[in-house]
Amino acid sequence: MNQRGTKRIKRGTKRTMNDRLRPVGVMDSGVGGISVLKKAVEIMPYEDFIYYGDSANAPYGTRTTEDIKDHTFLVAEKLRAMGIKALCVACNTATAAAIKDLRAAYRDMPVIGIEPAVKPAALSTRGGTIIVMATPMTIRQNKFNDLLRTYDKDARIIPLPCEGLMEMVENWSDDKAPLMEYLDMKLKPVLRDDTETIVLGCTHYPFIKRELREYLGDRDIALIDGSEGTARQIRRRLIEEGLLNEEDRTGTVTILNSSDDPKMIDISRKLFDMEIQD
Ligand code: DGL
Repeated sequence: MNQRGTKRIKRGTKRTMNDRLRPVGVMDSGVGGISVLKKAVEIMPYEDFIYYGDSANAPYGTRTTEDIKDHTFLVAEKLRAMGIKALCVACNTATAAAIKDLRAAYRDMPVIGIEPAVKPAALSTRGGTIIVMATPMTIRQNKFNDLLRTYDKDARIIPLPCEGLMEMVENWSDDKAPLMEYLDMKLKPVLRDDTETIVLGCTHYPFIKRELREYLGDRDIALIDGSEGTARQIRRRLIEEGLLNEEDRTGTVTILNSSDDPKMIDISRKLFDMEIQD
């Protein structure tokens, strides 16, 4: 750092104190990305975050790739207009469909995506089966199929498209009976004695971990998701770009949603405050 408080990063771009004080944008098709936001705030409490859930256009997982790209860009533009210094696409579906184009369009800021945590699951396999729960769109994308091809030599991996599951988190209800029925309908046909891991490949799913654990009972199955890895990647990219806020301060968290139903902000806050069990 030089005397004026500016930092030079590898590409010669100067970063000022003002750049570092700008917020980090986190987006999702709805409220699911709050699972990533929570980890990011835990790891970087000194940063300001703006979360944007596109619930008015959710789910993304049943749209075409082009349509998802369009919606993702619209949200990204809104966040850029609010002065973000980095963008986290906290949505597996939007990442699979749009991350390449976003990175090409926004070369002036780090763009961090999320993908189903197949890699850590496969690398720590004990020789059993891994189930990957994700939206139908994530599972259809080349990006996901490349990921499977890379790791299916190391482990037996079963992709499980979960149409309708993110909606159960979006329309949060304390009556968990429909959710338990859904889990039974989806998991019963694929669960095997050797199932060792379930990858939660959609950012909405960590919010149903408690019910998933209850459904699985005393089976020894690890539930893993990419939220912590993604939050750490945000931090790494901010450091690389000279954008990490090094002030001793407590940051702010602003939660926005495209839906005009005020209940979406209430649900978002509830999820933000909710403890997610391991
Ligand atoms: N949270 C999104 C994901 O991680 C849900 C996608 C959707 O809207 O269907 O994939």
